[in-house]
Amino acid sequence: MVARYYVKGIITSKKRESENVFSHTIYFEDSKMLRKLKPGRFVMVWLPGCDEFPLSPSFYDHVSSTMRLTFRIVGLGTKTLASLNPGQAIFVRGPYGNGFIMPPITKSSSEKSILVVGGGVGIAPLVPLIRALTSTSLNLHVICGFKSAIDTFFVDEISKFIGENLTVTTDDGSMGIRGTAIDAVEELLKQKNFFYAFACGPEPMLFKLHKMLLNKEVPHQMLLERYVKCALGVCGSCTIDGLRLCKEGPVFNDTILRRLSEFGRFKRLASGIRELIIDS
Ligand SMILES: Cc1cc2nc3c(=O)[nH]c(=O)nc-3n(C[C@H](O)[C@H](O)[C@H](O)COP(=O)(O)OP(=O)(O)OC[C@H]3O[C@@H](n4cnc5c(N)ncnc54)[C@H](O)[C@@H]3O)c2cc1C
Ligand code: FES
Repeated sequence: MVARYYVKGIITSKKRESENVFSHTIYFEDSKMLRKLKPGRFVMVWLPGCDEFPLSPSFYDHVSSTMRLTFRIVGLGTKTLASLNPGQAIFVRGPYGNGFIMPPITKSSSEKSILVVGGGVGIAPLVPLIRALTSTSLNLHVICGFKSAIDTFFVDEISKFIGENLTVTTDDGSMGIRGTAIDAVEELLKQKNFFYAFACGPEPMLFKLHKMLLNKEVPHQMLLERYVKCALGVCGSCTIDGLRLCKEGPVFNDTILRRLSEFGRFKRLASGIRELIIDS
């Protein structure tokens, strides 16, 4: 059953995570929506009189009836959301989409590791997945890539879960290893055997990673972004090669990703016009 109604939440705390990334923790009187969340699913955030847009929670807990939204300011909607303060209300509908699926565990999995790669604010939706994976007996290595030290966030939170198995990269070398998350993956793939991988981040990064993982025959799932309007599977705004991101995604596995001709190449604007994806 798809949720078509809004639930009101009250912001209980606000945190500036980095130069351009904020988190709001939100309390909901009705925790039904939170029970349906799973890592990688998303909600539609409605700011009356402003905009509605999709975000994948970086934390949720139905016992305390709270959810954390972590977002980068890119335009009016996210700027307005960042201007809200504790005590103020927001409206949310969902959750929508499929979410990440836990990897198949076989006898040989215990000798290999799982790789999780996040780029920029793409790290936020991976946090609930990392929590879920660390509660299993599986080995985990996480790579978080940022542009610079001022952009880093969640490094302490993630290292609390996985300790030394966290690699941080910055393009300018101001924190962690100099280079991109992809550079770090390339090195790590020489040293360790991975039996599964998960990723979220800028699409050019995901596309390169997908090619590298295919070469190494590592099955994977990636959370993609497209322009979400209805989130109900009706309007077709979010399609990628005919698949609706809000229904069949936002998480796609390697079997589907290799069939998508638009993956890493084209996205659609709000108008529906196709636009080239540029590696910035
Ligand atoms: C499933 C999913 C989960 C996401 N999770 C997160 C998250 O956890 N944290 C985060 O920072 N960002 C996330 N995003 C991206 C986020 O939705 C956009 O950054 C946000 O909508 C920008 O809105 P705006 O009004 O600030 O910007 P605008 O100025 O309106 O738009 C700037 C750009 O943001 C994107 N955008 C705008 N509206 C939408 C929309 N309705 N659907 C998709 N993209 C849009 C477009 O690429 C657009 O060019 C997610 C996107 C999707 C599809
Ligand atoms: S946003 Fe996916 S079909 Fe409308």
